[in-house]
Amino acid sequence: MSHTLWTEVDNYICGKLLPSDKVLEESLNANIAGGLPSYDVSPAQGKLLNILVRMHGAKRVLEVGTLGGYSAIWMAQALPADGKLVSLEYVSRHAEVARENIERAGLSDKVEIRVGEAAKTLADLQREGQAPFDFIFIDADKSNNAIYLDWALRLARKGTVIVCDNVIRDGDIVDTTHTDPGVEGTRAAFDFIAANPGLDATAIQTVGTKGYDGFIIATVTQDA
Ligand code: SAH
Ligand code: DHB
Ligand code: MG
Repeated sequence: MSHTLWTEVDNYICGKLLPSDKVLEESLNANIAGGLPSYDVSPAQGKLLNILVRMHGAKRVLEVGTLGGYSAIWMAQALPADGKLVSLEYVSRHAEVARENIERAGLSDKVEIRVGEAAKTLADLQREGQAPFDFIFIDADKSNNAIYLDWALRLARKGTVIVCDNVIRDGDIVDTTHTDPGVEGTRAAFDFIAANPGLDATAIQTVGTKGYDGFIIATVTQDA
């Protein structure tokens, strides 16, 4: 199967199951116009995150890696009136575009973006007593995936769901000749979960408009 066909099928899925949403489409356009890289989750993946947040009844969501806020909007749209999403972003220009998108989406009261290296802003969240989060989406610099998973555990409770994006990357994960930091960081994330009895997880390989990739989906089985 080719990438063209995967994209065609994604378009079919979206045409059938994802009603056109002006706010989400405008966000993607603003990200492109603002020169942001096209690393946003695909629409079908965004809807998956939205459904997972609703299925879990999550009220407090944490995201590592905001970019233009596209995945944040999908997740925030799934929150109840008293729900809150905190999203962490290193690049202030990305956060600026994200804030505009979130404002346009009418979600400013529910979404807080914190600018800085996630390793620092995650520690701030813990210090401020912002934990526990019910749902955590890790989608930032892949070289730090294991570190973010470790932080996610510290900011979680028993039952928290953790989703980690881009863990397959065209199968690079099993290609031993691939030693770039992103792949090593993701292997470290798999090793971290495998060695941690407090996490129960699977990974699902996906194809679609973003190519061949996948998610880790984990649940926390004991209190932090
Ligand atoms: N979740 C977004 C896509 C995120 S792309 C969506 O689907 O819409 C990855 C983001 O992580 C980029 O914006 C990048 O700037 C950010 N990032 C990279 N290193 C980071 C770090 N150390 N701390 C926080 N964010 C980081
Ligand atoms: C890329 C894709 C992503 O989903 C991401 O979070 C970061 C980078 C990429 O296509 O390079
Ligand atoms: Mg991603």
